[in-house]
Amino acid sequence: MSPSPDLAAAVEHALRAPSVHNTQPWRWRILPSAVELHADWTRHLAWTDPDRRDLLISCGAALHHLRVALAAQDLAVRVARLPDPDRNGHLASVSIEPGGADPIDAALFAAVHRRRTDRRRMSHRQVPAAALRTIAEHADREHATLHPVTDPALRERLGAAVTEAARTQAHAPGYASELQIWTQRYAGARDGIPAANVAAPPPGLVGASPLRRFPRSGLDQPHTPTGTGPADDAAELLVLTTPHDEPIDRLRAGEATSAALLAATRLGLATTPLSQATEIATTRNDIRSHVLGILAHPQLILRVGWPASHAGEIPATDRRDLRSVLLPG
Ligand SMILES: Cc1cc2nc3c(=O)[nH]c(=O)nc-3n(C[C@H](O)[C@H](O)[C@H](O)COP(=O)(O)O)c2cc1C
Repeated sequence: MSPSPDLAAAVEHALRAPSVHNTQPWRWRILPSAVELHADWTRHLAWTDPDRRDLLISCGAALHHLRVALAAQDLAVRVARLPDPDRNGHLASVSIEPGGADPIDAALFAAVHRRRTDRRRMSHRQVPAAALRTIAEHADREHATLHPVTDPALRERLGAAVTEAARTQAHAPGYASELQIWTQRYAGARDGIPAANVAAPPPGLVGASPLRRFPRSGLDQPHTPTGTGPADDAAELLVLTTPHDEPIDRLRAGEATSAALLAATRLGLATTPLSQATEIATTRNDIRSHVLGILAHPQLILRVGWPASHAGEIPATDRRDLRSVLLPG
């Protein structure tokens, strides 16, 4: 065991995890040789995420980030998921064990601070099949499956499901208010999605974009030639599924999301999690039956592509202080 595990430092790294609308819906308790992860239900987006799927995926991503940060300290861990049947908000307990770290988790650490959600047009360069396989293997280790949707007809169907979900959400008054609240946070909130991380749709876009529309944008699109659709770049859409759809599956889907995003970042790829089509039951079922044709449960879509050449750096989004997300020890 490492002589002095720094659990607080590991939790600080875990705070870099992606979360829906950057809500950071988590709380942490640091004990002498364990860390507990709890859901913060007060940060649940009731209209956008009626199933609490996104919230649990976000917490699962933070759980995986924590595992990665502990592995980088050469610590072995044991994870108990949903350890208390009477408290559904206690999502995981991670305890330090004797032995060496998981080398695959440790190798992802460098990507934790480099990863960004990239909502810009990506490159026209194809993502190699080998890279998609590597990313899928990382999801596999977390008991989830990533399905690249490369067949043009199925890709079009997937795009149609996203468009349909966006149309449904446009008619839900609470959806728009949640989007307003989380894209225009009060000074010092250190959460939400700033305009600096959102790009307006590129001019001359052919076909419907799978990206969520946000009210404000302040990020430049790279100067790349206009393509021929469906999304005007060669970004791939990958659907993440789990065998069942219980809270533990959603938590695991979040761990797999983190693993896949960090693996892609490590390969130099840009990524965008996309959840609109999995937030709505009808479009989620449509993806399950008519895009994938399987019994597993879609949890999230990941957009993965090469960044366009000359695309600038994307600023890191804020996170709340460690102090404000800690529960008493
Ligand atoms: C479960 C989940 C769902 C998300 N859904 C979307 C989405 O539909 N569209 C989008 O642009 N970003 C989406 N994101 C990305 C978050 O907005 C992003 O992680 C957050 O703003 C923090 O920014 P960062 O990823 O650059 O650190 C999602 C992230 C998670 C974990």
